[in-house]
Amino acid sequence: MGQKIARGDALVLAHYYAPDAVQAAADFVGDSFALAQKAVASDKPVIVFCGVTFMGESAKILCPEKTVYLPAPDAHCPMADMASEEEILHMRRTVSDLAVVVYVNSSARLKAHADVVVTSANAVRVVSHLKEKNIYFIPDRNLGAFVAAQLPEKKFYFGHGCCPIHDATTVSEVEAAFSAHPEALLLAHAECPEAVRSRAAFVGSTAGMIAFAERSDAREFLVATEAGTLYELGRRCPGKRFFPTRADFLCADMKKITPAALENVFAGGGTPVEVDEEIAQRARRALMRMLELAK
Ligand code: 13P
Ligand code: SF4
Repeated sequence: MGQKIARGDALVLAHYYAPDAVQAAADFVGDSFALAQKAVASDKPVIVFCGVTFMGESAKILCPEKTVYLPAPDAHCPMADMASEEEILHMRRTVSDLAVVVYVNSSARLKAHADVVVTSANAVRVVSHLKEKNIYFIPDRNLGAFVAAQLPEKKFYFGHGCCPIHDATTVSEVEAAFSAHPEALLLAHAECPEAVRSRAAFVGSTAGMIAFAERSDAREFLVATEAGTLYELGRRCPGKRFFPTRADFLCADMKKITPAALENVFAGGGTPVEVDEEIAQRARRALMRMLELAK
């Protein structure tokens, strides 16, 4: 066991997909973009990040002077490795006037090759500011297609990655949910396939989905994203009803972040997140550029 961490020294950040009890214990709950912004703005020396590894890595890269802990260091987003450095180098060699845009759900190693990083909350805005005509968007082909549809002036090349949980959303399960709740509006995460996104009243990030539900006059919503989001939807929208499009819309990695794992960090059982310095320096440029262009 290492040294205990005083609660007052730490900012506890949690993603909407973390278990309800973990969200309830956090100082701030948000989407990937808002969590990165909060990490940067914090004056606490320690960040305890209740998210998957790419989130903790990004916080460490953006805040090298802070000590960052992941309560579940083995909670790893499978999409983070669904692109390769070789593919990026090949694209850079063969396509001119190219910007490499790397979704934040990626390893630090991939971010080090990025011209800019994006999250689902800011991808359209950030890419719209790039001067390059050609965009290589990795790893998420679904988010990439969503962004491309809104920026017809650019030419997109896509990676082959996806979130296995969102990508598994089918039109037939959405149609079944609409049959059970005909008055409901569909909220879809941008990682869902196009056939699902096209039926949605709102497509975007988790925070965007929550904000849409909050300001909408509708009373019922179908939710096509990880079930943890239902906790904040219920908290922020009393009186409205939310139905997941699938009973087991769960990210097993996010569910590794238990209250006991969080307690273990404060008891001194955590290992600080480390990122290779050369990779961190290059990835920091791409992350900082995102924060600038997303303003
Ligand atoms: P958000 O940035 O929308 O919270 O998404 C993160 C994520 O992992 C989606 O699967
Ligand atoms: Fe990764 Fe999908 Fe889990 Fe999000 S929901 S962390 S994209 S596996």
